[in-house]
Amino acid sequence: MNTILKFAVIAVFIFWNTNVSNAQTDWGISEEQKSETLKIPFDQANQEAGEAIFNTQCKMCHNEMSVVPVNTRLLPLSPNLGSQEIQKKNSDGELFYKITLGHAATGMPPFDRLSEDDRWKLVTYIRTFYPDYQPSTSTVAASPATEKFVGTIKGITLDFDTTNGTIKAKLQALDEMGNPANAKNVKVSFYVKRAFGDFLINTKKTDGQSIALEQYPLDLPADTNGYITVIATVDGTSITTSKEVKFGEKIHYKNPLDEPSLWGPRDNAPLWLKLTYILVVLGVWITIGWAAFQIFRIYNLRER
Ligand code: HEC
Repeated sequence: MNTILKFAVIAVFIFWNTNVSNAQTDWGISEEQKSETLKIPFDQANQEAGEAIFNTQCKMCHNEMSVVPVNTRLLPLSPNLGSQEIQKKNSDGELFYKITLGHAATGMPPFDRLSEDDRWKLVTYIRTFYPDYQPSTSTVAASPATEKFVGTIKGITLDFDTTNGTIKAKLQALDEMGNPANAKNVKVSFYVKRAFGDFLINTKKTDGQSIALEQYPLDLPADTNGYITVIATVDGTSITTSKEVKFGEKIHYKNPLDEPSLWGPRDNAPLWLKLTYILVVLGVWITIGWAAFQIFRIYNLRER
């Protein structure tokens, strides 16, 4: 009897345990979905489009992509998607549906609001970190990586064209011989300064004239005077610059303390509150004065 009871307890325990771990590992993706393969060409255009989406939608949790796993920023841990372990264990379909459905149990949000095309672009970008990746037959082989700039970058300047809302970042660069050169294909990230950290707008590559162009997102609110501070940083370096510019939405921020209200400081308090206050204070002083006067009278009585 005793042994049966023990068995029952152990069985229940094991059952409960597997259930819990299933809830944590199960993304609810069917075998059919897993077997899906990349639907768009595995080419540079798609990889770069995927990277741009990744930088604005995923990087804050998943951090920098890299083949070597690095520490992730948030709990629950968001895995480094460049790691070979993740690349190996996931089919294209699995990546696609994990991005689509998310995983409520662990905090990976669903991204079904992105178009299907955009989600495949993300898969394309994620796969660029997998040297062993075999794109499905329907896809075009990756084009050779664009040549990298090999000189040194000395500085960066920012210019604005407020008529068409463009931000222009120009690099000053030297080639290997130390002569001024054009830095092509260098990544520049554009940020807008916000009260709590900098907000990434986009990452762009420089053209043949060392210039990276970005469209200013006109729906972004500016400060009370209509100014925003734009920051441009050469990716992977400490070369950065910032500049104020007056465009974008002006915030019409009303300070609630500027109007007469119960919580308004001093002059902004409502009249009835001021009157009540004055009356109460007067009342207190009159009472104190009256009491002092009575004490004085008692004192005088004793003298007589
Ligand atoms: C709020 C933070 C957060 C954001 C934003 C986010 N993720 Fe995740 N992601 C997670 C967490 C946490 C996990 C781990 C979930 C798990 O293992 O159950 C995860 C897991 C994943 C996985 C599965 C990895 C594996 O173990 O197989 C993929 C793929 C993924 N994320 C892609 C993306 C992409 C692409 C984006 C942007 C479109 C994105 N994530 C945005 C938090 C996030």
